[in-house]
Amino acid sequence: MVSLIAGFLVIYILTTPRYGAPNPVENFNVPFVFGRFTIPADNLLTKESIALGRRLFYDPRLSGNNQISCATCHQQSLAFTDGLAGSVGVSGKPLAFNSMSLANLMWGPARFFWNGRATSLEEQALIPIQHPDEMAQDLGSLIKELSQDDTYVELFGIAYDGISKEAIAKALASFQRTLISANSRYDQYLRGEISLNEEEELGRKLFMAHPDTKSSLRGGNCIDCHSQFLTSGFTAQLDGFSNNGLDNDAALLAGLSEVTGKAEHRGFFKTPTLRNIAVTAPYMHDGRFSTLEDVLNHYNGGIQHSETLSPLIVEADNIDNHQGSTISLNLTAKEERAIISFLHTLTDEQFLSDTRFSDPFKEAPPR
Ligand code: HEC
Ligand code: HEC
Repeated sequence: MVSLIAGFLVIYILTTPRYGAPNPVENFNVPFVFGRFTIPADNLLTKESIALGRRLFYDPRLSGNNQISCATCHQQSLAFTDGLAGSVGVSGKPLAFNSMSLANLMWGPARFFWNGRATSLEEQALIPIQHPDEMAQDLGSLIKELSQDDTYVELFGIAYDGISKEAIAKALASFQRTLISANSRYDQYLRGEISLNEEEELGRKLFMAHPDTKSSLRGGNCIDCHSQFLTSGFTAQLDGFSNNGLDNDAALLAGLSEVTGKAEHRGFFKTPTLRNIAVTAPYMHDGRFSTLEDVLNHYNGGIQHSETLSPLIVEADNIDNHQGSTISLNLTAKEERAIISFLHTLTDEQFLSDTRFSDPFKEAPPR
């Protein structure tokens, strides 16, 4: 009898979480125009997982020299980019790639990084931590370090039953899933709360249209790749990746072909979201363009021909005068300016200063 009771006690102690159960997030509202989204069944959003992920995101202890956090290269005021052409981490050596903005990551291409090499946010999170030029951290040492901090021990205990590399990845992914940007002037316009001015409205129409000279429809064809409300690439399969004509065959990087092994994907990169684009300069995977004017000049006359160049770009011309070799949209200067004005309506000031996404270590201590 005594041993039976002792047996129950052992089972009770082993199965009862030491830190109480995590609290599911209630009223997780997202704009319906963004469409369906999925949260992995083994990493549901809870208040504790989000709080933990936010703390980890801003904690320089995640790096080998305790000086670089995710937020070093992903700063909220810059829509989670860093203003540099090539980001700089622990080694001080600029990366070959431009930091990517982090917003609305539950939509758009379901692969991460410019070349799509990570298939989930959980998978993505551990890559920069271990990369020698980014955070140069050994995961075993990191787990030891975090285990010495009572706040982490408690938060990991509630959210994930303890500290592990899987839990670190899951928490970072959870926090990043909450980075939803949906209150730009464009969103307010979509909700019928404001109207756009004449220039912005012209820009919006051009952004949304593929030119058709037969029906005199002028367009910038941006929406062909930067899909409508989200302005990021399409979700299905690899549709969110393409070659937008930055380089000729000689200079073309591997891009997505590095991941798929298919020559037809050479020079394909992730079509990033254009939300908050006015604050995320410089632009493109290598930060080669410093202004939106440079970007528009690229699409309107700087397209480089290559074997994998998107047919959507080759076909898009507002004047029916194809001479064979040159590719240009033939937008007027006024139309280029209008598209840039529209791009500015995608800036979401609330997102850029939302305290739920800010550095928790800088918060005033509770009184
Ligand atoms: C040294 C700068 C640096 C640090 C530190 C860093 N990142 Fe990044 N991040 C980048 C760069 C550069 C890219 C694009 C790299 C590429 O495609 O090869 C990127 C890409 C990403 C992406 C992909 C976004 C998309 O739309 O595909 C996510 C998510 C991300 N980082 C999250 C994180 C998290 C989480 C951390 C911390 C654990 C972190 N980053 C640390 C520079 C950094
Ligand atoms: C064929 C598909 C395609 C079309 C059409 C297209 N884009 Fe892009 N866009 C991309 C891809 C892919 C990238 C990333 C390319 C890279 O860095 O290698 C990109 C990058 C950008 C960037 C830089 C984003 C960043 O975070 O650095 C801006 C800005 C942009 N596009 C605006 C536009 C505008 C405006 C139009 C219409 C005039 C347009 N795009 C048309 C595919 C397209």
